[in-house]
Amino acid sequence: MAGLIPQSFIDDLLDRADIVDVIDRRVKLKKSGKNYMACCPFHQEKTPSFSVNPEKQFFYCFGCGASGNALGFIMDYENIEFPAAVESLADSLGMSVPREQSETRAERGQRDLYPLMEEAARYYQRQLREHPRRGTAVDYLKGRGLTGEIAKRFDLGFAAPGWDNLLKALGTTEERKQQLKLTGMLVENESGRVYDRFRDRVVFPIRDQRGRVIGFGGRVLGDDKPKYLNSPETPIFHKGRELYGLYQARQANRQLERIIIVEGYMDVIALAQHGINNATATLGTATGQAHLEKIFRLCPEVVFCFDGDEAGRQAASRAMEAAIPCMQDGRSARFLFLPEGEDPDTLVRSQGAQHFQALVNAAMPLDNFLFDSLAANLSLDSLDGKARLSKLAAPLLQKLPPGVYRELMFKELAERTGMATDTLSQIVAPPPEPVSEPAPRPRQREPLAIAQSGPSNLVQTAIFLLLHQPAAARRVEDLEPLRRLEGPDVALLLELLELLQRRPESTLHMLLGHWYGTEEGELLSRLASQERLIPPEGIENEFIDTINGLLHHPKSRDFEARVDKLKHRNYADISELEKLEIVQELREKRRRDEERGRKQ
Ligand code: UTP
Ligand code: MN
Repeated sequence: MAGLIPQSFIDDLLDRADIVDVIDRRVKLKKSGKNYMACCPFHQEKTPSFSVNPEKQFFYCFGCGASGNALGFIMDYENIEFPAAVESLADSLGMSVPREQSETRAERGQRDLYPLMEEAARYYQRQLREHPRRGTAVDYLKGRGLTGEIAKRFDLGFAAPGWDNLLKALGTTEERKQQLKLTGMLVENESGRVYDRFRDRVVFPIRDQRGRVIGFGGRVLGDDKPKYLNSPETPIFHKGRELYGLYQARQANRQLERIIIVEGYMDVIALAQHGINNATATLGTATGQAHLEKIFRLCPEVVFCFDGDEAGRQAASRAMEAAIPCMQDGRSARFLFLPEGEDPDTLVRSQGAQHFQALVNAAMPLDNFLFDSLAANLSLDSLDGKARLSKLAAPLLQKLPPGVYRELMFKELAERTGMATDTLSQIVAPPPEPVSEPAPRPRQREPLAIAQSGPSNLVQTAIFLLLHQPAAARRVEDLEPLRRLEGPDVALLLELLELLQRRPESTLHMLLGHWYGTEEGELLSRLASQERLIPPEGIENEFIDTINGLLHHPKSRDFEARVDKLKHRNYADISELEKLEIVQELREKRRRDEERGRKQ
């Protein structure tokens, strides 16, 4: 019986079972119109108010509010836990319940690498304190203005001179040697000789978001080449996804409002030394979409920091292209160009933290950067220049996700080129649909879009998404800010989150079971019966976006005024929720317009 029941099996089971059969076997049902009725088994009554809807495969009691699907019914009627209800229903259909293998061998092998990497980090740290030649490394770090406290926070270490220090200290068995090779800490050359990758360098352990050491960077103490050496790609280290300093940034901030992306390890550390604790760096690679998605799941704003030279501008253009597809409403990306010859490390040391923060605060919004950089070599006074701008910009804007921001960007382009927005949208294809329908399942109801007749507000949307993917609850690390919210259903959302954090294995059916017969239960089953139009892999992000929207909830303001504000492009000032509301309002408007068009 060990192992999880795969969600796909539960879905399949519910598709095959017929709730009318399931209930009728236990409580005699009578046909009444499209539905079936009976006296409710969950409360005392003389006239039937217990109704079973075969189309929706849901039962509902008008008397006591009990409701749910076939599994929920079995759980409550038999008074058994969810897995037992699944077994019972599967039995009755002649199906056997598969269990997910909790871990594959590869996953287990990978898991063993993390403690070894942690050991390596500890070993290098100890060398920085104890090695007879530690002096050069300590002087180097001091020379760069770092205190012992910061060195400790980032676990800086020293890989002493020599070919086999780590090999001897950690490679004590054949298996450990193999593992050290697999993580790139040991290198094997063509003639089979094995030696330490990092020698005579200060080393920077790279941690993933959960704090596990996944790789290292190492800097020479003098002017040798290469200046920096990094761990190679390994089963646990993927440069395209990881950001140096993200773990420390999350440790230092309860709620990150903004993340700065700089170029180097030492920039991250120098900024932290000056109290700026939200800087991260890519690991010798360009910033890609995977990096940005990771950041935007944690906070709504990213500020890219580049050198002010031509190479910096080019890197910024690439970062902009990576950012564009991530620019859902409510997110913002800005660009900071430093004076030539400076990097965040030199600048914060010479000018101080306040100066650097002021530069970050004044960084250029993505829209400015996009239009300015594209227009840089064009003369917008000429028709030719305007045409060229629209040709360059339209394909980029087309990659923006649907929303207010996208619409405003097209509007902006229209203004700059003097072309009608309609003409511009003919240059590009229509926007992709914001959410896609899941693969059709048997017995599907008419799909309902969330924005139209599903949850009526953000709190309900969050509940709706949680019901469809209870595992999303683990993404809310801190419930405190949510406790400060007011309004209907907030208490229910909190209760749900608390329950799911205590019992992360809970499923929709268990949740419905938990609230049976209460007012909340009614809302939950109404929300649960709404079709979801978001693909399963999108639900968690949508959930986090919704929670962030809630947390940035302003007191309600006049809609027109808000749209107006957007038109004046103070985009960064506008909260997630406002943007969501405006998107919904715009969608509604578009739908009404279309309807009107159809009638004419
Ligand atoms: P920079 O060359 O801009 O150096 O490398 P820096 O960060 O200012 O270094 P300091 O101040 O001289 O110590 C920026 C980043 O590029 C990667 C590293 O990730 C580094 O932090 N890099 C650089 C390498 O991977 N290898 C190199 O040889 C140089
Ligand atoms: Mn530097």
